[in-house]
Amino acid sequence: MGVVVSLDGVLLSGDKAQVSVFDRGFLYGDSVYEVLRTYQGVPFEEDRHLARLLASAERIGMNLPAPLRTLSEELWAAHRASGNAESYLRLVCTRGAGPIGLDPALAVDPLRLVIAQPVQPPPPSVYEDGASLALVSVRKNLKTAIDPRAKTGNYLNSVLAVAEAKKRGAFEAVLLDHQGTVTEGASSNVFAVLGGTILTPPVEVGILEGITRTVILELARRLNIRLVETPISAGVLLAAEEILISSSIREIVPIVKVDEVSIGTGRPGPVFHRLRAEFQRYVVDYTEANRRPG
Ligand code: PDD
Repeated sequence: MGVVVSLDGVLLSGDKAQVSVFDRGFLYGDSVYEVLRTYQGVPFEEDRHLARLLASAERIGMNLPAPLRTLSEELWAAHRASGNAESYLRLVCTRGAGPIGLDPALAVDPLRLVIAQPVQPPPPSVYEDGASLALVSVRKNLKTAIDPRAKTGNYLNSVLAVAEAKKRGAFEAVLLDHQGTVTEGASSNVFAVLGGTILTPPVEVGILEGITRTVILELARRLNIRLVETPISAGVLLAAEEILISSSIREIVPIVKVDEVSIGTGRPGPVFHRLRAEFQRYVVDYTEANRRPG
């Protein structure tokens, strides 16, 4: 098991991988990235992650440094070289290094890298007993600032939200927008169950279109659970029968507490259990259908 980095296609051990201090990813967060994980050695929902990476790059006017096919090969190569049973894979593309200055035209040397390290999912107790959210004071940035649909390296908004949530002992932060509408977690999407219907904020509210969120939308349809994309107030969230959050590494997590408010029965609920079981089946099918020899 180890940490391996594919840096512009060259495989290195994690401690040997270095980038320039003039890289704009480092100086300005002028980069786009994806986080995915493997199941049975297969990067989960790779095509959707690569498509989102391309869309993020287009949103900030960045040319990706390599075709998606090459980036895909590098994801697989980094995982295989790592020797990990399963990897957390972080794919980062930056506008590159160049003379210091905000003008993106100064970038001369676009850079790509993949970090493969052992995946560390949350402990089983999180799924058995549920986790907590903090409604933090940090507000989601406006989509007319940096559109949260672009997954850029500029994550200070989420970093500050996590710091606040951690201080309050919560598992994840949930951010409201400037009008008090629920947006998303610091690095997750949010779902509330009301009257058996799943509600989740629409992408137009200003959130990342999570890949796990998209899978949940599909699984809910398959399970005949009504799911509506609609803005949610903090009050509606607190009154929910169940709350779920989703992300590539944490999958689907049941939330049983928001700040000091107990949610529903205070235990993971039936919608969570049905979705999680279906998600696990989906992962098995996906993995079997997307194996690659080598
Ligand atoms: N983050 N919203 C935000 C702001 C996120 O950063 C993430 C994921 C999600 C969930 O998206 P997905 O289902 O595609 O993982 C929602 C990753 C895991 C990260 O930055 O580590």
